[in-house]
Amino acid sequence: MVQNDDILFEPFLLGDLTLRNRILMAPLTRSRSQQPGDVPTEMNAEYYRQRAGAGLIIAEATQVSPQGKGYAFTPGIHSEEQVAGWRRVTDAVHEEGGSIFLQLWHVGRISHPELQPNGNKPVAPSAIKPEGAKTYISADSGMVEIQTPRALELKEMPGIVEQFHQGAENAKRAGFDGVEIHAANGYLLDQFIKSGSNHREDEYGGSLENRLRLPLEVVAAVIDVWGAQRVGVRVSPTGSFNAMEDADPTTTFGTFAKNLDALKIAFIEVVEDSFQGNHFSGRPEAVIEAIQESFTRTYIANGGYTFNEARQRIAEGKTDLVSFGRLFISNPDLPERFRLRAPLNEWDDSTFYGGDEHGYIDYPNLSEQST
Ligand code: PHB
Repeated sequence: MVQNDDILFEPFLLGDLTLRNRILMAPLTRSRSQQPGDVPTEMNAEYYRQRAGAGLIIAEATQVSPQGKGYAFTPGIHSEEQVAGWRRVTDAVHEEGGSIFLQLWHVGRISHPELQPNGNKPVAPSAIKPEGAKTYISADSGMVEIQTPRALELKEMPGIVEQFHQGAENAKRAGFDGVEIHAANGYLLDQFIKSGSNHREDEYGGSLENRLRLPLEVVAAVIDVWGAQRVGVRVSPTGSFNAMEDADPTTTFGTFAKNLDALKIAFIEVVEDSFQGNHFSGRPEAVIEAIQESFTRTYIANGGYTFNEARQRIAEGKTDLVSFGRLFISNPDLPERFRLRAPLNEWDDSTFYGGDEHGYIDYPNLSEQST
């Protein structure tokens, strides 16, 4: 690839969708949906509208079912009200000429009976407690430790696949351009993939082939709704957030990537580094190479990227696109600031999760700062 200062600003064909640039907005949990009901609001629409200059917005993790919820205030995509709320968001982004995918989410064990239908125990591949992991359940109770989950029964697997299938259909009705399946960061599908959290002895656990079975069934069900060109998957091979561990991430995720390639999905987004915890210091090059060798379509890199590192790694062929998280929180016009080499606003991590407009839709863009 030719070294080109402006490579980040060149259009890119992702599946059958032309992106205006290569600067993507990563999925970011902001915990500001309307309660009760987990419904996206006008304020959420304004937040995404402000960031529509991204090549693609991957909207925040969104539970596909009541069982898939793990934190207070996160949005869902399983009720008509939620579909209508998301429609406001997608309309706002499209009015600005942007593109937006929804991230489909089931938290698995990272939840609490208070957040679950009928006060049920959260579900997981195996009844293994994620040591030290916490979730936020309400303003009164705050952060609480995650307890030992209930192992899903074999007969429940089709129901999990159906939850994602329904979420995919609802996302389509809400006007999204596509969907990303959340298989990262210690949530349900990652719990199935990684050896530390999946000790099942049936066809959904044990061997690598078995651990990949449920995620691949989910991907196939979502492709049925969207077509492979509008589907991506997010993984975090070396992430330790939510007490995750895999004995051999290079083989595990290289094999997953090979299977995803056979299904012809548009992209894999890889959390190469996470501020929430990583077993690897620096980018895990062997895992990245294994994924890229097995997956022939688009690779999206994520995790602590700066403008310069993004340009450099695209130029070196180490990634096709880069998604930015925290920088997009504090810089709604991030692509424009990169283009002009303008200074960046700093983020305030005390307003990442929950709250109101402050730290959400009040970060200034450049024109507001210079007038
Ligand atoms: C979080 O709420 O902390 C969170 C949610 C989804 C992620 C990662 C972190 O993928």
